[in-house]
Amino acid sequence: MLNLGILISGRGSNMESILKSIKNKKIPINPTVVISNKTDAVGLKIAERLGIKTEVVESKGFEGSRADYDKKIISVLRKYRVTPNNGLVCLAGFMRIISPEFVKKYKNRIINIHPALLPSFTGLDSQKQALKYGVKYSGCTVHFVDAGMDTGPIIIQAVVKIKENDTEESLSKRILKEEHRIYPEAVDLIARNKIKISGRRTIIS
Ligand code: GRF
Repeated sequence: MLNLGILISGRGSNMESILKSIKNKKIPINPTVVISNKTDAVGLKIAERLGIKTEVVESKGFEGSRADYDKKIISVLRKYRVTPNNGLVCLAGFMRIISPEFVKKYKNRIINIHPALLPSFTGLDSQKQALKYGVKYSGCTVHFVDAGMDTGPIIIQAVVKIKENDTEESLSKRILKEEHRIYPEAVDLIARNKIKISGRRTIIS
């Protein structure tokens, strides 16, 4: 069974959804640690309540390079047996760009959720970007993390229809509901070894 490490920076609602689904839907993966780059991340408390070990690798004031910071993250992941061979790392609202070194070491072992239909609206404030652009549909995407920004092979997407009177808040809320559904599904597929990557495409068996 794979060991799972979840990286967060804040609210942790996707983390919560993954942890609860592992338990309730019997996803065959072993969550060993939740790591935050912020001491005050609300998600840390939720993880503790759910009985998962937590660690903080403070990024504020960290003076080394991005790769140096990620080395610290990797050493915590290793401490909790989340290794490139038998681990999966979920970025769940982790507000940092991952270094190429980390991506290379954990090749196809890091996944992320993005609140838009990639490749549209990468980066920050995707829901706001979607409204501003005037698209009629947006949604969310779970994807493997590669060296680019929100560019790795796509695992699952969910579509959300945009309403005429949507605000950033109302749209974000409906997208989040779908995020909570598809992120655990993606974890389940990986846990059951049902995903093969072929170029940019993922093939789900
Ligand atoms: C989510 O909208 C996710 O798509 C984005 O950051 C937000 C994190 O929310 N990457 P939460 O911390 O999981 O509640």
